[in-house]
Amino acid sequence: MSGNLSPIDTAKFVAAKRAVDFVEDGMRVGLGTGSTAAWMVRCLGERVREEGLRITGVPTSSRTAELARKVGVKVVSLDEAKWLDLTIDGADEIDPNLNLIKGGGGALLQEKIVATASDQMVVISDASKLVEGLGAFPLPVEVVPFGWQTTKALVEETLAGIDVLGQSATLRLNGDAAYVTDEGNYILDLHLQRIGNPRQASLVLNQIPGVVENGLFIDICDVVVIGHGDGRVEVRDINAGTRQEDRIEFADTDNLFRDLAD
Ligand code: 5RP
Repeated sequence: MSGNLSPIDTAKFVAAKRAVDFVEDGMRVGLGTGSTAAWMVRCLGERVREEGLRITGVPTSSRTAELARKVGVKVVSLDEAKWLDLTIDGADEIDPNLNLIKGGGGALLQEKIVATASDQMVVISDASKLVEGLGAFPLPVEVVPFGWQTTKALVEETLAGIDVLGQSATLRLNGDAAYVTDEGNYILDLHLQRIGNPRQASLVLNQIPGVVENGLFIDICDVVVIGHGDGRVEVRDINAGTRQEDRIEFADTDNLFRDLAD
């Protein structure tokens, strides 16, 4: 990759670049999935190459594992790492309490397992993902293929009894076929428009047989790093109750971008 970054890529990149400052030598780090998380993996690779940073990465998808290996980040399974110091990942929506919708990239199950097995979760994003209330982004729910249509009907029936506006679910497709996750499951996208009580919705959905996990991340995220197209970043820490602003200076002729060409 070379040339000028678009404002949206700049926002994702500066959020990622700032977030890897949280990573210290010797840490076990959960590596998220998606376009913003991919920038974070590249930035980590740069720190490994240029500073000799020694870290162990636990990827949340086969895509992320491949990228991490390519940029020189050591990869192990979660069972090998056991517990993580930190996970850095993207999100589809972030509310003022740092509750999230995730899974737009289809990796919500591994992402939730890995984030939950971490001392700290840092979410990186551009400002467009900040919302007052969750639900405009379709909520991904991972379901087992066996009897998925029955599970879908049960999910829709359940939605009628909870505080959401929409109640329809659609099977995520990859071309003409069902999208299949790294775990061999399907994804239902729930078109809820507004989720009045995300905690309740998450608990209720996970009680339906056939549902493996949903994309609501409640009380899991500790810090968000929001990037902007002009290089500004905002760091919000929900536990400390702090907000800091920074600016990331970079040239998109850096090695980091040149390395992506091959
Ligand atoms: C993948 C995810 C992603 O983190 C989320 O969809 C955000 O992706 P992007 O950074 O490409 O906007 O949850 O399952």
